[in-house]
Amino acid sequence: MTDLHFLEVVEVDLFKDQRGCLVVSESLNSAYFEVKRIYYISSTPTEESRGFHAHKKLKQLFFAVSGSFDLKVSDGDVFETVKVNAESNGYFLKNGFWRELSNFSSDAIVLVLASENYDAQDYIKTFDEFKEWRKRGAY
Ligand code: TYD
Repeated sequence: MTDLHFLEVVEVDLFKDQRGCLVVSESLNSAYFEVKRIYYISSTPTEESRGFHAHKKLKQLFFAVSGSFDLKVSDGDVFETVKVNAESNGYFLKNGFWRELSNFSSDAIVLVLASENYDAQDYIKTFDEFKEWRKRGAY
C-alpha cells in the first residue's frame, strides 16, 4: 500500500461463512473519537461526486458497506486518494482536511461515523477558502 499522510487505515475483521459476510471494527471510541452521529450515503449515480468541502472540527470514519468509492483528501496543498472497498478496511480523517468522494460503484453504500452532531457552520465550502483557512493555522 502507498504511504498515507492524511488518512489513517481503520482495520476491520471479516467473518465469512455460508450465511454471508459480517464485518466488524472495534474500539473506535477509544482509538479515534466518541461517535456522536452516523450517516450513510446510497444511490449515488456513478457519474456524481460528493463532498467538496472541509470540516473545521469534525473528525470522521469512512467505510464502504457495499461496493466502492474513491476518497480524495487534501491539506490544501497535497492530495491523497484511496479506494474504499466493502469487506476491506475503513479510513479515519481528522479535522481540517478537504474531502471529495467520487467514482461510486452502482452498489456503493458509504457509512460515515462522525465526532460531532451536524453543524452547517463547521463546513468550508470552497477550496480557496479552505487554503486560506489552513494558512491562518486555524485548525
Ligand atoms: P452534504 O454534507 O452536502 O453531503 P455531501 O458532503 O456528501 O455531499 O449534505 C447533504 C444534505 O444533507 C445537506 O442538505 C445537509 C444535510 N445533512 C444533514 O442534515 N445532516 C447530516 O448529518 C449531514 C451529513 C447532512
